[in-house]
Amino acid sequence: MKIKLSCLSVAAVLMSLSATASAGADSLAQFHADMGSCESCHAKPIGKVADSETHENTQCKECHGGYEELANSELEFDPHSSHLGDINCSSCHKAHEQPVFKCNDCHSFDIESMPFADAKAKPAWDAEWDQDAIQKAIDKGPVETTDVIVVGAGSAGFNAAISAKMAGAKVILFEKAPYSGGNSMLAAGGFNAVMTPQQQKKGIKDSIDWFVEDAMKGGRYQNDESLVRIMAEESADGIKWLESLGANMDDLKRSGGARVERTHRPSGGASVGPHIIDTLRKAAKRENVDVRLNSRVEKLVLNDDKSIAGVVVHGKHSGYRMVAADSVVLATGGYGMNKEMIAYYRPTFADMTSSNNVTATGDGITLAKEIGASMTDIDWIQAHPTIGKDSRILISETVRGVGAIMVNTDGQRFISELTTRDRASDAILKQKDQYAWLVFDQQLVEKKKMVRGYDHLGMLSKANTVEELASITGMKDLPTTVTAYNGYQAKGKDEAFGREDMPLNLSKPPYYAVKVAPGIHHTMGGVAISDESEVLNLQSWPIPGLYAAGEVTGGVHGYNRLGGNAIADTVVFGRRAGAHAAAFAKDK
Ligand code: FUM
Repeated sequence: MKIKLSCLSVAAVLMSLSATASAGADSLAQFHADMGSCESCHAKPIGKVADSETHENTQCKECHGGYEELANSELEFDPHSSHLGDINCSSCHKAHEQPVFKCNDCHSFDIESMPFADAKAKPAWDAEWDQDAIQKAIDKGPVETTDVIVVGAGSAGFNAAISAKMAGAKVILFEKAPYSGGNSMLAAGGFNAVMTPQQQKKGIKDSIDWFVEDAMKGGRYQNDESLVRIMAEESADGIKWLESLGANMDDLKRSGGARVERTHRPSGGASVGPHIIDTLRKAAKRENVDVRLNSRVEKLVLNDDKSIAGVVVHGKHSGYRMVAADSVVLATGGYGMNKEMIAYYRPTFADMTSSNNVTATGDGITLAKEIGASMTDIDWIQAHPTIGKDSRILISETVRGVGAIMVNTDGQRFISELTTRDRASDAILKQKDQYAWLVFDQQLVEKKKMVRGYDHLGMLSKANTVEELASITGMKDLPTTVTAYNGYQAKGKDEAFGREDMPLNLSKPPYYAVKVAPGIHHTMGGVAISDESEVLNLQSWPIPGLYAAGEVTGGVHGYNRLGGNAIADTVVFGRRAGAHAAAFAKDK
């Protein structure tokens, strides 16, 4: 039985589902079965479900409407309109499993209106890897063969897979989560690129050497300069490539540690991550890249000569299977959500919040280490200074770039807002109570669309005057600070902390403040790679057929990554890894 629900309000549907939940059905599967039959969701023969659950998700949308239809809702928080793009419905709405309130993986909502959301279950990727099942799959031998396997469908993975496919390789892109996007999907800043038409149009003078110098200085000169130079040299081409796939990168901002505006973003103030991921998802579809969700790679398999033979993948429905490939690209992201790895590599960060996607558990590092790959800077972890206090929501550095000031609990500035993240985080941790406030006015809200999202999430304090804001937040010195800052802004010289760029003063009510504290944002270390994105062994020789790109690698960012260099890294090295992996497969 199919009912088109999109004409009903989502709130009404949820209320009726809630009522049904309390009336007996304890899962979405039971609820749908009670309404019709298993065929409401599944194709025949029931029980043969593809790991990506494509048929089931098509059925959801057929009955309930697409996100755009669902978005016109009366819900206070409406995930269908707010983020993630066109992902599987089953990413959040589980059927036969114990339901999990997915929203609070990232948010901290006190919300009970989501049906079947009262149970807590461990995400599948926290489960132990089943070594016996892995060995059995290897003993059985490959059940499938391809040229290139890419592991992880964030920006690096998509860029690698699309590039390899365009180079003529047969490609499978495995993603352990029920949705693609990884950490890249949460990226709020932009893509640092140099000598682009966007910079030229704005008359911004920049150079490859400046890009390299800024990244090296930000990384305390611990970066691999050769990798940084490649990132700088190929950055403009990376922008052109994304544009050719359909992205809009026309807005330019300045990020901390950069001497000029070189952070490219979509115009109109949208967040860069969802936009790029949406573009890459569509491009992968157009190019017929075989993207398989709910498919966790748990082993890299080697030939006797230590070259890549393939992987063992654990599919949600298909189980453990070996897939043979000539080359593999690791694009699994960092380990910012792996508590054990954080506690091991950086014990002082063990209790810190994290801005990362729940999938950032360092799988690629484990996989590569097991086969003797070398690690670089593995214990270097970046704390981003402005995660919403007591939340996991990143307040983008570009909010400061556009004009916000940062003050302590007394309302006093204590550092240039545009300094590098490591220095800003250290400075906040030295303040009373180890948190700070970002303060801005209505001018900034009008320029920066994402701030409205923070408001929507209830994170902002708001007042009609600076004095009133000081009074409701307890920042007693705020009025004096704002007066002084406005004076510096008018003169174009920050006499207190030498902030290089002050695009806005604070003069247009209402005034806003948001509490921020440092949280884990990026793991700079990871597998060691060559300039060709080959993974290196302990003797610094390439492991034949193994490539890596993005946050799983070390060396590009040194001790501290600059804002906007993560997306640059994923696009530039994702493309390189994909192209080299395809060439390797072709030559084999
Ligand atoms: O703060 C930010 O917008 C983050 C950007 C980045 O990590 O590159």
